[in-house]
Amino acid sequence: MKVIETIKAVRKELEGVRKAKKTVALVPTMGALHAGHLALIQQARSVSKYVAVSIFVNPTQFAPGEDFEKYPRPIKADLEKCRQAKVDLVFTPAKSELYAPDFVTYVCQERLTERLCGLSRPTHFRGVLTVVLKLFNIFQPDAAVFGLKDYQQYICVRKMAQDFHSQTKVVGVNTVRESDGLALSSRNQYLDPIARKNATCLYRALLTIKSSAKRGDKRAASLIRKGRELIEETPQTIVDYLTIVDKDTLEEVNTVNKGAVAMGAIYIAGTRLIDNLAL
Ligand code: PAJ
Repeated sequence: MKVIETIKAVRKELEGVRKAKKTVALVPTMGALHAGHLALIQQARSVSKYVAVSIFVNPTQFAPGEDFEKYPRPIKADLEKCRQAKVDLVFTPAKSELYAPDFVTYVCQERLTERLCGLSRPTHFRGVLTVVLKLFNIFQPDAAVFGLKDYQQYICVRKMAQDFHSQTKVVGVNTVRESDGLALSSRNQYLDPIARKNATCLYRALLTIKSSAKRGDKRAASLIRKGRELIEETPQTIVDYLTIVDKDTLEEVNTVNKGAVAMGAIYIAGTRLIDNLAL
């Protein structure tokens, strides 16, 4: 496994890979790798001969006051996990490699980025799309793999790739969960045992919405009310949003039909967690 810190060295390495007619799949991450990331790596392996992982805590997607500084960076353990998963290349750039001091260009995407998480994190997706476009330009991968756990991120990246005529196929992978349903997240480390237990309320709310819809209640407002009640009766929680949207436009729906997705974000003892469930 190669560990590479510069764009130049990535380009050189991939030249050889392309000469050998291998396809390249990229898995962008911020590290603190868990089984969710490993599922993405496995998916990358199944679509490509050559698998690259990037590990970079991207400063532009954090707003002032968010957790950029305290975000976990267990680089040694991450590299070991990549080695065991038979990753071919890990890209670990310094901040200065991706953002020169005079950097001024960002990807601005309308509509999709303005809803849901974009309401409480108005500069977040600008940072995500900017770094993802950089990575797409550096690697020019045949495929890039993203988790459906960050469903809005997946949709925004997919739309950017389409709008910018990218040759990279954006692949989505189902959410990996703990045995009690909590979606794996690097941020779960922030939760103490009590908050960790309470944190399952978001997934349970999404399940309540799904099962009520299955039983025949198709009114989004009534379904959301039931889910919200479940979260609000859990200690330590503040609901950021809980809503039902169309799977492609991310616009809120009034009636649940095929292609609807329930999406939620909560703060639990100060930690922000997100999850979603296709209905
Ligand atoms: P990060 O939070 O490290 O996640 C990297 C990838 O892993 C994302 O595509 C995310 O959706 C996926 N992932 C995280 N938890 C998952 C789970 N429980 N099941 C399945 N997939 C999961 O998302 C980012 O980093 C950044 O925004 C990034 C795209 C790297 C840009 O900086």
